[in-house]
Amino acid sequence: MPEIRVAIVGVGNCASSIVQGVSYYGDPDHKAIGLMHWDLGGYLPGDLRFVAAFDIDERKVGLDIAEAIFAEPNCTAVFCADVKPTGVKVAMGALLDGVADHMESMPRKRTFVVSQAAQPSKADVVATLKASGAEVLINFLPVGSEEAVQFYMDCALEAGVGVVNCMPVFIASRPEWERRFKAAGLPIIGDDIKAQLGATIVHRALSNLFHQRGVKLERTYQLNTGGNTDFMNMMDRGRLASKKVSKTEAVQAVVGKRLEDENIHVGPSDYVPWLNDNKLCFLRLEGALFGNVPMNIEVRLSVEDSPNSAGVVIDAIRCCRIALDRGEGGMLVGPSSFFCKHPPIQFTDDEAQRRTEAFITGGAPAVAPKAVVIAAGQGSRLRAIAASKPLASLVGVPMIERVADTARLGGIDELVVVTGYEGEKLEGFLDEYAARRDVKLAHVRNDAWTRPNGLSVLAAEPLVGDRFVLLMCDHLFDPTILRDLLHQPLGDDEVLLAVDRRLNNRLVEADDVTRVDVDDDGRIRRIGKGLAQYNAYDTGVFLASRSLFAAIREDAEAGGGGISGGMQRLADRGRARVFDIGDRFWIDVDDALAFEQAEIEHARLATKAQP
Ligand SMILES: NC(=O)c1ccc[n+]([C@@H]2O[C@H](COP(=O)([O-])OP(=O)(O)OC[C@H]3O[C@@H](n4cnc5c(N)ncnc54)[C@H](O)[C@@H]3O)[C@@H](O)[C@H]2O)c1
Repeated sequence: MPEIRVAIVGVGNCASSIVQGVSYYGDPDHKAIGLMHWDLGGYLPGDLRFVAAFDIDERKVGLDIAEAIFAEPNCTAVFCADVKPTGVKVAMGALLDGVADHMESMPRKRTFVVSQAAQPSKADVVATLKASGAEVLINFLPVGSEEAVQFYMDCALEAGVGVVNCMPVFIASRPEWERRFKAAGLPIIGDDIKAQLGATIVHRALSNLFHQRGVKLERTYQLNTGGNTDFMNMMDRGRLASKKVSKTEAVQAVVGKRLEDENIHVGPSDYVPWLNDNKLCFLRLEGALFGNVPMNIEVRLSVEDSPNSAGVVIDAIRCCRIALDRGEGGMLVGPSSFFCKHPPIQFTDDEAQRRTEAFITGGAPAVAPKAVVIAAGQGSRLRAIAASKPLASLVGVPMIERVADTARLGGIDELVVVTGYEGEKLEGFLDEYAARRDVKLAHVRNDAWTRPNGLSVLAAEPLVGDRFVLLMCDHLFDPTILRDLLHQPLGDDEVLLAVDRRLNNRLVEADDVTRVDVDDDGRIRRIGKGLAQYNAYDTGVFLASRSLFAAIREDAEAGGGGISGGMQRLADRGRARVFDIGDRFWIDVDDALAFEQAEIEHARLATKAQP
């Protein structure tokens, strides 16, 4: 019988539910109740075996896991009282910042009581993990335990154990941690589990419904109350920052048009002891229907908090084990986006599920097209800032790196960069970047870089498939533009151009931008710099079929050869359409003023995104 050996950090309510669940589903009669997957990649829920556990509460340390899960202050539903002893005793953990100060003054039966047992060093925890043969570690530490989480993550890496990070200290979604897991060949799924039918998924589904039905979402809140130690811990607002980011971004990611901060409030709102592990969530969404007529919807959701997350964790553990079986390390994109609130890359729930199922069956995950990045030109108007435009450092990061990172965040796995001016230097940097970030990246030189930019696109022709994304090294943009563009249908010989309809966008230099005239069906009529009649701007982000190569070649033979020239030829045949980016950020950094604006904008966005 296959077996998945699991280590638990934090034997609280969530751990109680998952341990009970594994026992409950050991009985095949319960197969049909409340699971997303019975058989997941050949593993059943009952195949999980708990081989190590760490906690700091004196009422849990030293007990068999099967007893510790029912010890105070755990207060979740007991749906399987008959859990057989595991033979594994809960070990004393390293306290660090695991327990918030305010919890010490709370009634003993409701709060954490720190054991006086000696705390382990990193080497001790690593040794325990190794001796247990643990394959996957599940992290259930309290919100705000930054130091403690990092401590256990270091231990997992050193002991060679995969991780499911169930809570919102960001690990899988931090590139430096993701790289460490990748380097160690260990899978990680994170961050912050999205419960089976909890506040987040209901809020996302309703927000998505507004978006799909053309209702403008104007304001929304999600107020959560509960009486377990998780809610008690979160009364300390100082520990809440990342939880709030995690829950808010999970909703913002599906609303279509991002809401201003003051129009969205999502968070744990109050601690009501008698609710115990029952979470009450109050949701409200306000919007505008046809004719700008107002509407609103309110939902009151009542769920037992911990069992609600346990089934999702059981699936995440099994995905982690599948990755181990396949020798796949690093962050698991599909499972992280489906099972977690704060994955490194957000997808719609349908897309996240599709990617997870593809991961489970081992079928080729939907292969994202390659992105071709044009970085051959001289950028003479930026010479005062840097000799090579792609390497000009914008808020400490070279522009080409920003564009490549944005492409990856937007869902691209493989890049082709076309170099030219100062080619050798740029190629050296790209090789270093590819190694540092573990990115598949090829570069190809266009020696005719002084000639029209379409020739750079042609240089990449042998390296891409039927579809590819085309980007400019000096056009910075919100990665969600690319993510959404990749989901657009594209005809066999079509090209889709992301456009900005805001003709008053203050970040656009109106005299220099490529203008686009779009008809009522979203097809491009005319495209070019000097158009007198236009209703959109070209953002430099394309989803293209190979027809673009033929069109550019045709244009070059007629004496042109620019990207716009090729696009005009496709437009003349009705094969060039637009994708409206809405009010999302983009900027063409082609002179010192634009550079300065881009720096300000990036600093502003970075500050906003801080947990
Ligand atoms: N219930 C859900 O649906 C859900 C969903 C997403 C995320 N989460 C998150 O999962 C985490 C666990 O939730 P829970 O309800 O089980 O919390 P809990 O308060 O019941 O359990 C936390 C456990 O961690 C232990 N602990 C504290 N510091 C420790 C340390 N330094 N080392 C080892 N153990 C330590 C505590 O003694 C306690 O047993 C929380 O961060 C919560 O926000 C829960």
